[in-house]
Amino acid sequence: MDHVTTHQAEEDARNEAILIWVNGTLKPRAEATVSVYDSGFMLGDGVWEGLRLYDGRWGFLDDHLDRLFEAAKAIDLDIGLDRQGVARALEETRTANGMETDAHARLMVTRGPKTRPFQHPALSRSGPTVVVIMEHSKPRIPRPIRLATVPHIRGLPMSQDPKLNSHSKLNCILACIAAEKAGADEALMLDIHGFVNTTNACNFFIVRKGEVWTSTGDYCMNGITRSKVIALCRENGIPVFEKNFSLVETYSADEAFLTGTFGAQTPVSHIDGRRIGTGEMGPLTTRIRSLYKDLVFRS
Ligand SMILES: Cc1ncc(COP(=O)(O)O)c(C=O)c1O
Repeated sequence: MDHVTTHQAEEDARNEAILIWVNGTLKPRAEATVSVYDSGFMLGDGVWEGLRLYDGRWGFLDDHLDRLFEAAKAIDLDIGLDRQGVARALEETRTANGMETDAHARLMVTRGPKTRPFQHPALSRSGPTVVVIMEHSKPRIPRPIRLATVPHIRGLPMSQDPKLNSHSKLNCILACIAAEKAGADEALMLDIHGFVNTTNACNFFIVRKGEVWTSTGDYCMNGITRSKVIALCRENGIPVFEKNFSLVETYSADEAFLTGTFGAQTPVSHIDGRRIGTGEMGPLTTRIRSLYKDLVFRS
């Protein structure tokens, strides 16, 4: 079966020669390494953000910085940089790579190298590891995405809060593997009550009779694209609801789409083998995509 991921981009040979920001130094890709003692490698102990560059400007930079600092505070991690420092790291990476548009950054902060190979966070004594990888990136998804529901659910906030953009994404990865084994591209995950919640890497929306529905937001990543789509619907008179809904209402939706910084809005063609609408990008998804594109370039 032809396989597609929601984060598929055009091949770009320039990405072999990128410079990567590692703790303040720009390094060629092959030399951009961290220690095997790094808490990110050893334990997934860190937080990250994915950002995009449009026409020389970072899309929704303040929202990304808010979420990054909120997550770092939640895991009691001192980034060692203030907001301007993080923005400077992004800019230095951008300038070093001569990137202006259609570029994607992954900004990662871990608790840093540990003195011994064990879990306790106090063993990370030499400060955080901060890395910025920027790649030339033009999303190119050849067809709408197929989803499969999986047994892995979005958990309660008191275990590993699904709102944390943590390095460890094992729950989401297991969900993705299960979806792939079921012949789909990405996993549709339910919440603890069995309502439709989100996918393993993006937020999830359906369209029914001209209304846009998404989950209450209780168990999913507080996606920046998700919040922009909700706000755009409200500004443009498109009825939008954050509510509980089930698979029954999802299978019979007229349209379904995913949201995320990388792909903006990605249409969904099938869920658990049921075709959604025509199986192609629907009119309301198309309209929201265009409103979002305008917003990115005017904000
Ligand atoms: C699980 C999950 N859901 C949704 C998103 C999309 O969030 P955003 O729109 O802020 O990129 C992400 C991105 O980090 C994610 O990891």
